[in-house]
Amino acid sequence: MRQLRGQERVITANRQTSWAFADAFVAEDEAMLWARDRAQETGLRPVSPGTGAALRLLAATTDAKAVAEIGTGTGVSGLYLLYGMRPDGVLTTVDPEPERQQFAREAFRAAGFAANRARFIPGRALDVLPRLADGGYDLVFCDGDRLESLDYLAESLRLLRPGGLVCFEGVFADGRTVDAAAQPTEVLRLRELLRAVRESQELMGTLLPVGNGLLCAVRRG
Ligand SMILES: C[S@@+](CC[C@H](N)C(=O)[O-])C[C@H]1O[C@@H](n2cnc3c(N)ncnc32)[C@H](O)[C@@H]1O
Repeated sequence: MRQLRGQERVITANRQTSWAFADAFVAEDEAMLWARDRAQETGLRPVSPGTGAALRLLAATTDAKAVAEIGTGTGVSGLYLLYGMRPDGVLTTVDPEPERQQFAREAFRAAGFAANRARFIPGRALDVLPRLADGGYDLVFCDGDRLESLDYLAESLRLLRPGGLVCFEGVFADGRTVDAAAQPTEVLRLRELLRAVRESQELMGTLLPVGNGLLCAVRRG
């Protein structure tokens, strides 16, 4: 009851707008908060609650049975994806840092997911993705190395079934993507990614203004 009243206050007593409201609107469970704490200790930036909830919604909408994630971190985004996927779905998640994946494994277990719901692959995305099956995935979520964004897009097009969805986290780059001042290479790569998705004949994309910007695109059938 107390939690419900708290949630109601988030709606009717909220003085924030747009992004901040969308993030505050989402209730996170203990496992999620634990994974967030581990991310903070590790110096990682996990998806915001609003971004996580959007991913959960998209996984549910696509009735996702097979999801590939680049950048496990400590498991915040993975939890959201698992909550949205089918009960028999499997999340394949890639990260070069096994100790981060160990935190994610613990968070998934704490949330009640059976061990066979997640396949943890330690390694760099561009070494691992070529080993994954063509057309075998309903959704690919990219949150690894921004410098490799265009490579992730190419790999995602190969991995996705027709009608499948690719999502890129962090494309606002905290406002730097639209800032005409000199920007680091990773921001230039994000701009190239945005252009590539917008111009692609194979994809239908949109930019969701949640968190730090979530670029989503469906692979046309
Ligand atoms: C922002 S964190 C991911 C956060 C996570 N998606 C979440 O929301 O909880 C980025 C992660 O990408 C991983 N990473 C860095 N380079 C990578 C690469 N080449 N391939 C796969 N993962 C990579 C890092 O080790 C880090 O854990």
